[in-house]
Amino acid sequence: AVPYVVGSKSYTAVAVNCAAKAGEWIKSKLGTYTHLDTKYSRQDLVTEMDKGAEALIRNLVLTHFPDHAFLGEEGVEAGPEASRKALEKVSAAEYLWIVDPIDGTTNYVHQFPFYSVSIALAHKGEVIVGVIYDPSRDELFVAEKGKGAYLRNRTLAVSEETTLSDSLLATGFPADPVTAYPANMAQLQAVAPQVRNIRAGGSAALHLAYVAAGRLSGFWEMNLSSWDLAAGTLLIQEAGGKVTDIEGNPYHLGVRNILTTNGRIHDSLSQALQDATKS
Ligand code: IPD
Ligand code: CA
Ligand code: CA
Ligand code: CA
Repeated sequence: AVPYVVGSKSYTAVAVNCAAKAGEWIKSKLGTYTHLDTKYSRQDLVTEMDKGAEALIRNLVLTHFPDHAFLGEEGVEAGPEASRKALEKVSAAEYLWIVDPIDGTTNYVHQFPFYSVSIALAHKGEVIVGVIYDPSRDELFVAEKGKGAYLRNRTLAVSEETTLSDSLLATGFPADPVTAYPANMAQLQAVAPQVRNIRAGGSAALHLAYVAAGRLSGFWEMNLSSWDLAAGTLLIQEAGGKVTDIEGNPYHLGVRNILTTNGRIHDSLSQALQDATKS
């Protein structure tokens, strides 16, 4: 069994503490950033709060667990190749923290209150703790491998829909539209007429938490990184849902094209998405 508790320091307690502290801090700074930079593309934004929140989390985690590895979005160069290489570099670590300090930076910049802090701990490549905090609603989603997923002491369970036509889905648009949009548009065109509706809220991590909470029947998105997905995918698995890539292959930390559902609509949605991009 995986040891969750080292001395008096539980991994989950540290993850929760980090997410709450970082979340409260970014919320307190909403609308006050002075450094808005772009990274991989004109649409790929970063503020000093992204960097500050990551530093806060990194310091807290490494103070508690100095021999653990740490992978945070703002410690890595922008773009898919750099993010793949960064993950490869730490893949041998026994314990690896995977952190997105602000998921939904575009929303944060525009003061659209749908952004989150996402923190995961992986043991030998498998996520064992996942925490997502939404400071706007003060909602803290917590999952531990084999022990369930929770929101305010409530056990989370995925939704009941069995057909696409009864399903509320979400997706997202990556920050490199030039390369990504043709596939996005083809997918929307194929899926939208078959489902109840589609949302694109702008925080992949929160969308994943919403699938776990049964507020969405499913979520898919192309070109995501490990820090967008690690915590939320555990939440969904622990809430009884299904997590694969778009083709239906099992999830691992390197998966970028993610498909998550309540399980019941998984095969139909996977098929619809694959049909959409078949040339
Ligand atoms: C982004 C958000 C967004 C998704 C993008 C991500 P960031 O993360 O999750 O919803 O559509 O693909 O890159 O950059 O705000 O942490
Ligand atoms: Ca970003
Ligand atoms: Ca992100
Ligand atoms: Ca981010």
